[in-house]
Amino acid sequence: MLFRARFWTPAFLAWMVAGVSLVQAEIRETSVWWLPRNVSNFGHEIDFIFYVILWLTGVTAVLVFSTMIYFIVKYRARAGVGAIHSHGNNTLEVVWTTIPVFIFLALAIYGNEMWTRMRMETPPNDALQLAVVGEQFGWNLRYPGPDGKLAKMDAQKVGKDNPFGVDPNDPDGRDDFTTYNDMVIPVGKAVRLHLGSKDVIHSFYVPEFRLYQDMVPGRVYDFVWFKTDAIGQFQLACNQLCGQGHYKMFGKLGVVTPEEFAAWAQGKAPTATTAASRPVPPDASVANR
Ligand code: CUA
Repeated sequence: MLFRARFWTPAFLAWMVAGVSLVQAEIRETSVWWLPRNVSNFGHEIDFIFYVILWLTGVTAVLVFSTMIYFIVKYRARAGVGAIHSHGNNTLEVVWTTIPVFIFLALAIYGNEMWTRMRMETPPNDALQLAVVGEQFGWNLRYPGPDGKLAKMDAQKVGKDNPFGVDPNDPDGRDDFTTYNDMVIPVGKAVRLHLGSKDVIHSFYVPEFRLYQDMVPGRVYDFVWFKTDAIGQFQLACNQLCGQGHYKMFGKLGVVTPEEFAAWAQGKAPTATTAASRPVPPDASVANR
């Protein structure tokens, strides 16, 4: 009892809240109490629909609850006042059923149209092709070299030593280079992801891109694409509980100017397509193992 009383003191709660915000603020540039900053093309519409739904449900909740409280007080049990039985009102029923039906239909049609543009339409041809393969517990990234083409990924070939499931003789892959937990992309350029997993279900998640895609082993997802509109440093986090090390499955994600991207890519050596060549991250012993 004594412990409990102390545990929930306002001071303790305030301390906890402050602690959580400090830790979060380390990671995030903007307020931790609201949506993170958005830097992707689809994010604006996703945020728009979020606010539309928030206002609709917020206003409805206030109206419904205030009416309910008013009625509860007004028609409370009182001595000498008998109860009345009401069958309801058909006109009212029809009205308050029809309005939400149209609201839900509008939301569904708008959301479906957005989803189609995000995931069903073909990504732009000039998009940067980028392979991202999750493993316990980190991110393998594969960039096309000067030819702009990635080696073809085959989910059946993915294995311990071949995270991207590529054919070592694939000519498109000769100049590809790989990184580990280090994703850099040029601002303003469409990026088409080729997502896969080496072992269990992981999830590609960047809150600032409003982008989230599960990666089930045995599949390659090549339909996810986006474009950024601001530079910044973010975090590529895994959003699917994938094992004991899930909490530390995150990589650096930099959105940089095209010049900075070119300079960064320049220094990267082509990777032989076979497996044994996966680079060991320099900080592996510290951060990722
Ligand atoms: Cu991978 Cu959580």
